[in-house]
Amino acid sequence: MSAPFDLVVRGADCVLPNGVTRTDIGIRDGRIAEIGDLTNVATEQAIDAKGLHVLPGVIDSQVHFREPGNEHKEDLDSGTRAAILGGVTAVFEMPNTSPATTTAEALSDKLTRAKGRAWCDYAFYVGATPENAGDLAELERLPGCCGVKVFMGSSTGTLLVADDDDLANVMASGTRRFAVHAEDEDRLIERKPIAEAAADVHAHPDWRDPETALRATRRIVGLAAAADRPVHVLHVTTAEEMAFLNGHSTKVSVEVTPQHLTLTAPECYDDIGTLAQMNPPIRDARHRDALWVGVANGTVTVIGSDHAPHTREEKSATYPNTPSGMPGVQTLLPIMLDHVNAGRLTLERLVELVSSNPARLFGIKGKGGVVKGNDGDLTLVDLSAPRTITDDWIASRCGWTPFNGRTVTGWPVATVIRGRVVMRDDEVMDKPTGAPLRF
Ligand code: DOR
Repeated sequence: MSAPFDLVVRGADCVLPNGVTRTDIGIRDGRIAEIGDLTNVATEQAIDAKGLHVLPGVIDSQVHFREPGNEHKEDLDSGTRAAILGGVTAVFEMPNTSPATTTAEALSDKLTRAKGRAWCDYAFYVGATPENAGDLAELERLPGCCGVKVFMGSSTGTLLVADDDDLANVMASGTRRFAVHAEDEDRLIERKPIAEAAADVHAHPDWRDPETALRATRRIVGLAAAADRPVHVLHVTTAEEMAFLNGHSTKVSVEVTPQHLTLTAPECYDDIGTLAQMNPPIRDARHRDALWVGVANGTVTVIGSDHAPHTREEKSATYPNTPSGMPGVQTLLPIMLDHVNAGRLTLERLVELVSSNPARLFGIKGKGGVVKGNDGDLTLVDLSAPRTITDDWIASRCGWTPFNGRTVTGWPVATVIRGRVVMRDDEVMDKPTGAPLRF
């Protein structure tokens, strides 16, 4: 007779929907089948997790994996490998690949490429353009699609919807929550000479200044309200946007990134130069502190990494000819666990931000909570482990992290996806059996 469970995780402090409880979790046929005392039950595989915490699988709802088109800096294998090493069980991947994901064919191509090569579960964004606006209602409902992404300001790649009329057309087609990169294109163009004259990355937060972000965020929140569409404002970076978004309609969700919560200007540019260049930029401590106020008062609903790898060689050009973006999918959890240990947020709040809220806001089926019937996605962490993040731990093709040399307390020690242990003690295990997320 086969054992009643495929995997039992024993004795951990588990973050359940109603609080942290020391218990066992049994997984059968890929799903959570039992939560309770399973001391003596038979199981194919067991993990003795005493002293560890179990979180529902961490969902990183903003990553750029570069396939197709720029596999020299990332592909779906390396990006998802980085994810599971960092305790991430599912990702939403962005459409600014080459070609951009703006058609049903491009989406289907990504799904085909991911099959048998992705180590974690995944969904892909479709990119909005003025040209495909009318097709978005159909595109956003395709299997494996997490929704529509809009770039209001130019960043990496060619995707751009800058004008209010075009934005209104994009919003008129479809009903799902759409994600926005909010920087005002006109102001970016107007201020680009600041970056060119400086030829120094310290000018990055001045070129792409707080007003550039605030203007776009105000515009998109107004347009979304007029269209009655739920909107997800990605990587919010300024104190002024946080104040504006505080108390906004529940239809507005707000993402911040670990790097904007951790790094500050000018120090990050002094320390690592253009490796710290991203859009929207890392800003000074006043803004960083305001993001923490947003985490504390509930304005922030999601933490995503905005994993955006570029090679060192690409980053070594002269600013502003250097690409914006830094890797982050592998460091999201260690960095945030360190903030938990420093008392900046509770573990339960972190779980909301990286698991239950992304699942709820985007309507992911079977994810986002350690609950009977949900997929057996678990992230096991050692909250007391002091570890130093180093470039040689990084699985991303880019081979570096902005957090190289940083010692953190708190580390992912195992990643379980639908009952399969795919990472244990910094080693990738089993096979790449990632599957499309269901909505
Ligand atoms: O810094 C960034 N890098 N911001 C973006 O919006 C895009 C990303 C990338 O894809 O490189």
